[in-house]
Amino acid sequence: MAIGSYPSTRLRRTRQAAFIRDMVRETRLVPAQLIQPLFVAENALRGPVAAMPGVTRLDLDELVRECEALYALGIRSVALFPVTPAERKTPNGDEALNPDSLMCRAIKAVKQALPQIGIVADVALDPYTSHGQDGVLDEAGRVDNDASCEILRRQALLYARCGVDIVAPSDMMDGRIGHIRQVLERDGCKDTLILSYAAKYASSFYGPFRDAVGSGSNLGKGGKETYQMDPANTDEALREVALDLDEGADIVMVKPGLPYLDIIRRIKDGFGVPVAAYQVSGEYSMLKAAAANGWLDEKKAVLEALVCLRRAGADMILSYHAKDAAGWLGA
Ligand code: PBG
Repeated sequence: MAIGSYPSTRLRRTRQAAFIRDMVRETRLVPAQLIQPLFVAENALRGPVAAMPGVTRLDLDELVRECEALYALGIRSVALFPVTPAERKTPNGDEALNPDSLMCRAIKAVKQALPQIGIVADVALDPYTSHGQDGVLDEAGRVDNDASCEILRRQALLYARCGVDIVAPSDMMDGRIGHIRQVLERDGCKDTLILSYAAKYASSFYGPFRDAVGSGSNLGKGGKETYQMDPANTDEALREVALDLDEGADIVMVKPGLPYLDIIRRIKDGFGVPVAAYQVSGEYSMLKAAAANGWLDEKKAVLEALVCLRRAGADMILSYHAKDAAGWLGA
């Protein structure tokens, strides 16, 4: 309705000053919604990750100190990713079941120093397999779904017994959530949360991560398209989520983040369950590269990307920017 030649509704009124913009803002972003992924390495492999400026592979002492710094900034949860020396990698990823592995020691070290921080542990074999795939191979060289599930359930139980709060199967085998939930229930870890990488796409945005953990070169030309989802599909993501929830997942994840906002929204609307988004390594590196060239304002671009993930329906976000973002947001 217009009054004379003037509009009666002026949307600019609620945009004119910070106080009113802050009051009508629909989506909030606080550090406690961010999960910081961290790379853990034995001494010889620690150091900066070339393809991810600002990201470092930490040894155990550095890891504990970093977790304390993150906690002080308001971050309440970290996701740990181990870097495995090449000589410890085998076709069956045996290191995944070693109770004295770097991952097990890292979980215990962080829990001991900082029991109140939530720890997420990826469940998949790619850090440990000589071929870089997330599962074991059959005689024809294909990733063997059911044989992989047998190992993954034992890997999840091992991490749960080390004290991890959340196991996060990122392998995309069919039925693995049910296997893992069953073994956790049966063997005394009924309170361990499962954050399922439910809608995990076969994405080229994981490149820098694979460099960070040293799984990329092993993968060679073999991709992960036979188990990770086709980026062109959305209905299939809903089927993945329905199955994982039915099998006992507590939280479902969409990965990557920004190019998949529609998937996050459909899952949130369709299921009304806790949803996580993973703003992956390639997304991080793109923003860092543009910022380093002076093409983007890093702080503004990062906070915008994170708010957009929240607006799309993500309750929590795994992001390599988590620490910087928490600093910018204030605890
Ligand atoms: C391993 C795993 C990957 C990521 C998280 N867990 C890589 C992959 O599936 O190849 C990617 C994370 C990132 O790119 O930041 N299963």
